[in-house]
Amino acid sequence: MKGVILAGGLGTRLHPLTRITNKHLLPVFDRPMIYYPLQALINAGIHDILLVTGGNNAGDFLKLLGNGRDFGLQHLNYTYQEGEGGIAAALGLAEHFVDNDPVCVILGDNLIEGNFRAAAERFIRRGAGAQILLKRVPDPERFGVPAFEGRKIIGIEEKPRRPKSQYAVTGIYMYDAKVFDVIRTLKPSRRGELEITDVNNWYLRRGELDYGQLRGWWTDAGTFDALHRAGNLVARTGANKLDAPTRPARPARPARKR
Ligand code: G1P
Repeated sequence: MKGVILAGGLGTRLHPLTRITNKHLLPVFDRPMIYYPLQALINAGIHDILLVTGGNNAGDFLKLLGNGRDFGLQHLNYTYQEGEGGIAAALGLAEHFVDNDPVCVILGDNLIEGNFRAAAERFIRRGAGAQILLKRVPDPERFGVPAFEGRKIIGIEEKPRRPKSQYAVTGIYMYDAKVFDVIRTLKPSRRGELEITDVNNWYLRRGELDYGQLRGWWTDAGTFDALHRAGNLVARTGANKLDAPTRPARPARPARKR
């Protein structure tokens, strides 16, 4: 399976920190943010990796990561995103690299305590469709949120005001190569982006979306609170350490009334 790390965007939620650098180069405890998703892919057994970045600081990734020797890689691939277009648009740039293989996409600001190797292997065995990884969170309205009927996901909403479950769709996604045809059919959302949630709902409608639940902590790092939390979690427990295979999610409890 190929791996794609999405590390573009303007990171405006972190201004002024991101005025002169890319969000994914900011420090999270003792390492630049980008180290964590890169290590997460490698720990999942994925070594053929493309980094998608953009903006003014794209060259800094090359200086920092080179061919990935610090991570035991022989080679690392890079591509450049002109402007902004959302997660799905950034993934679209990986089509040539992915070349009909299955692909695991990780957002460059997502950190995990554990390891999703078991989920990656399960997806490779299945050989088609899509797989997402969920995590129970106290603030699902910040994320893509699945709605359940029993254990079955019946829809995913992007940043819903009234979340239908307490789960976030984490920024670790696995797709078959159809994903690039799906991306070509997408229309920009209200925030003007091609949404990864629309891609996931496309697979869901065709009955091809599978999911697992991450064990250990998970966090994004795209806001001040999340960045701070990420640093604390890494300092306390370390990232990508826990050997935590995913397990099927428990049936969701209804969202708390607010
Ligand atoms: C993105 C996705 C969202 C997902 C989240 C995970 O949100 O759109 O569905 O739950 O990443 O980090 P964004 O970071 O663009 O707000």
